[in-house]
Amino acid sequence: MCGIFGYTGEKKAAPLVIDGLKRLEYRGYDSFGLAVLDSDLWVWKKKGKISREKPPVSRRKGRTAIGHTRWATHGEPSDTNAHPHTDCRGSVAIVHNGIIENYASLRQELLGRGHTFRSETDTEVIAHLIEEHSGGDLLTAVRAILPRLEGSYAILAVAEGYEGIVAARQGSPLVLGIADRACVAASDVTALLDHTDRVIYLEDGDVALLLPPGPTIWHGGKRADRPVRKVDWEVEEVRLGGFAHYMLKEIYEQQSVFSTTVRALYAEPVPDVLKDISGITLVACGTSYNASLLCQYLVEEYCGIPVRAEIASEFRYRTPPGDDLVVGVTQSGETADTLSALKKARMHNHATLVITNVLGSTATRVADHTLYMRAGPEISVAATKSFVAELAVFFYIADVASGGRLRQSILSGHEAIGEALLEDLSPAVDICKDAGSIFFVGRGPFFPLALEGALKMKEITYIHAEGYAAGEIKHGPFALLSPMTPVVALCPQAESYPAMVSNIREMKARGVPLIVIGDGKSQELRDIADVLVPLPGEDIVSAVLGSTVLLQLLAYRTAEALGREIDQPRNLAKSVTVE
Ligand code: G6P
Repeated sequence: MCGIFGYTGEKKAAPLVIDGLKRLEYRGYDSFGLAVLDSDLWVWKKKGKISREKPPVSRRKGRTAIGHTRWATHGEPSDTNAHPHTDCRGSVAIVHNGIIENYASLRQELLGRGHTFRSETDTEVIAHLIEEHSGGDLLTAVRAILPRLEGSYAILAVAEGYEGIVAARQGSPLVLGIADRACVAASDVTALLDHTDRVIYLEDGDVALLLPPGPTIWHGGKRADRPVRKVDWEVEEVRLGGFAHYMLKEIYEQQSVFSTTVRALYAEPVPDVLKDISGITLVACGTSYNASLLCQYLVEEYCGIPVRAEIASEFRYRTPPGDDLVVGVTQSGETADTLSALKKARMHNHATLVITNVLGSTATRVADHTLYMRAGPEISVAATKSFVAELAVFFYIADVASGGRLRQSILSGHEAIGEALLEDLSPAVDICKDAGSIFFVGRGPFFPLALEGALKMKEITYIHAEGYAAGEIKHGPFALLSPMTPVVALCPQAESYPAMVSNIREMKARGVPLIVIGDGKSQELRDIADVLVPLPGEDIVSAVLGSTVLLQLLAYRTAEALGREIDQPRNLAKSVTVE
């Protein structure tokens, strides 16, 4: 969702802020803008993408600037609604990530006192509130008005005649970076890596003044010390490195991601929180939810522990049972619904664990315990390698809770990923690219994979796709089957195989083009399928990982054939920080 970036230091700030915004593009946005502090305050903003609109900054020499990528919530995407927003006189500029829930009443109040509004956004009230404190300095003004704001925010503010950037955080992510004779701030660390690996995660309620050599932070009226952390991600990891898209790069990284995550988990003693569990409730969204559902099948099958996977946004309407360990699964660690679910679990006195990819993310501060998935920075909106890293964690949990039943297959799991990467999917892509709608079906642990295959397909190709439990497709969706609705069926050699074969025969009889992922040597599958994609490996770990990669590649290659904007699909955001 919205991204913010700020720089104050010795260099010309505008080009650095534009580069910072480019690093945040992956979060998803529809408009962008920046404010440069010079002898005056210069603001430029535009609907559209940074690469196309080229901000005219060559003559802007200021050494302090803030910028924003906007994902519209209040007011349509437009030049006027883009950030930064200014006060009536144009002497204060604000960028904001989050939602000011009481903005309508604040706006009425400010209009009543003669302020003029230009945009439809909730953010603009902040600039006008600051304007009313213009007698003092910017830091004092920001601290004075924050108690008036209800909702969530990460804010950067600059003002004419005031040196540095004022930052504030409440419920939306904001990270500060300490660089060489510069201070930087951004919505996430990937945008800071060009400048520094030394970062400070602000806490809710913190206000900071950014000035080289480093920020000064206040909390509740007092100075606050926040630890400086070293990020172990490299700047190369957020570069394309010769791939056409980040998604493809991240799909290809999965072999090493799986091995790295597994190795790191087995290198440490089993965390106490995973010992003697009586039940697990997993809460997650999107791809992380699909991985969680797969965990439910795995852990119940191998360990006999009751597990349920819940969509995080629905969890608020449920009460977690008994003394379940509640596990938040979130690549970013910033998904608002998952954070709320974890908070609710804590309110009900449940022990909480978060499985996340981002060191220092909000979720790591909300949950009692953290397990890192070590996928490295994931830039493409469509999650791929974080799914595989989540699966690595779940295989590990199932293994340790079952006394090592999966260990051997886990240690060789990366091989199936490597084999799947070599498959030529062109015949399957030819079927999918012209489809009006695609069904993905599977049984057992392959049902969550069918959901994930469909999610990948719809996210990046814009073709309607649905994941279904294969046995359930007779109960409704059968009415939709036709030669325009291809079916992708996951048919591994598993307990579910005979039932899957019956299901796909029934679907084939309704005229669907049938893509089967299964044993490449099976004459039976060859006879039924229009396209048979060989699935590497024989054990559950290999079959799950191999299917995952094949489904990701099928979506990617179909989107490529359709010329879609793969890394930043329309209307989607990488990290959804509003409920
Ligand atoms: C967004 C992203 C998805 C992701 C989901 C959950 O919808 O577009 O790719 O799976 O959020 O994100 P999380 O960071 O919590 O795993």
